[in-house]
Amino acid sequence: MEEKKFNETSWKHHMKGGDGPDSYACNSEFQKQVLISTEDLIRQQIDEHLNIQNASFDPQNTFRIADFGCSIGPNTFYAVENIISAVKNKYKKSNQDQTPDFQVFFNDLIGNDFNALFRNLPSDRKYFVAAAPGSFYDHLFPKKSINFAHSSIALHWLSKTPKEVIRRGINKGRIHYLGGEKEVKEAYAAQYVEDFGRFLNARADELVDGGLMALQIVGFADGDAFSLSGIRMEYEILQSCLEDVAALGKITKEKVDSFNLPHYFASESELKELIEANGSFCIEKIAKMASPSGHKSDPKGFTLQTKAVLGMVFEEHFGNEVVEEVFRRFLDKVVESPEFFNDKYWEHTIYFVFLKRKGVN
Ligand SMILES: C[S@@+](CC[C@H](N)C(=O)[O-])C[C@H]1O[C@@H](n2cnc3c(N)ncnc32)[C@H](O)[C@@H]1O
Repeated sequence: MEEKKFNETSWKHHMKGGDGPDSYACNSEFQKQVLISTEDLIRQQIDEHLNIQNASFDPQNTFRIADFGCSIGPNTFYAVENIISAVKNKYKKSNQDQTPDFQVFFNDLIGNDFNALFRNLPSDRKYFVAAAPGSFYDHLFPKKSINFAHSSIALHWLSKTPKEVIRRGINKGRIHYLGGEKEVKEAYAAQYVEDFGRFLNARADELVDGGLMALQIVGFADGDAFSLSGIRMEYEILQSCLEDVAALGKITKEKVDSFNLPHYFASESELKELIEANGSFCIEKIAKMASPSGHKSDPKGFTLQTKAVLGMVFEEHFGNEVVEEVFRRFLDKVVESPEFFNDKYWEHTIYFVFLKRKGVN
């Protein structure tokens, strides 16, 4: 194996573990709705593009699926079961009397609660399982060993906040590029080019020829990153909560100024450009999905969900006590701003991307 660097992404950018009321497992209905909304599309794409005549898909061989950024379930089980059922269907439709064995690799950062994931595995599953811990921006599997790659609502997590933003202190008074200066957005975009490029390079090596990849990516239409959106409002409320805590003297203003969320929301043209520049994949489909509304209109549920997703990044920078205080204040502020849940602010896009590894078809 070539020598690789495995330590760039903070291992703490993971979701809240366990099975408790504040866990990701209990607060990920929005992400589940995204999977439901793309379920039929994945089935259609598998039916259309999985070429079981290709030697890589000989039913004598194991069919290997990897879910990148799987978290702790239960959504990942839902996603892989849909894929397995669609693949089996394709073999049956083609009058194959045999379907392959399935093996699923669950990937997430090393800090992810893999124990909770394994505790919650469906007992009636019809697939073998293994964990593949580490950053999906690195190589995680041997060359040409994966038949199907999947990743949902994970690729907006950058490997890190762009160094430029921290080194030059160009985003003081904000915790993200949304609504900020153009040069901050550009620094984030450059980080995304590097990270998504690394993701594609690694997957291009790992997928078999003709292997498939389905991605659900949170993004914005071209140009929309500068308009007022629900995500931007959410981050601005979080920023104001941090400022309140700083005003009480519990953290310094410098600490707040040096905090920037490592998220980037790509547009369709950015995604296409990067996939085409990589050159290893055919774009079989890019579709804009409407954002599901399952996460809205309930301040308490919304706060729990936000904390389950972002709590660890806040904790890494500010410590646990500050996290509790920030999210208490966040709930109060969301309750006081009914406008926050107005549908017009929550029209950000989910991109469904379906790719096929070039090679023998
Ligand atoms: C919002 S969760 C989505 C989880 C799951 N796919 C779902 O649909 O419920 C995003 C996941 O991506 C993971 N993640 C973020 N950056 C990652 C990276 N560089 N490598 C692997 N996983 C990463 C996080 O730890 C988290 O579990």
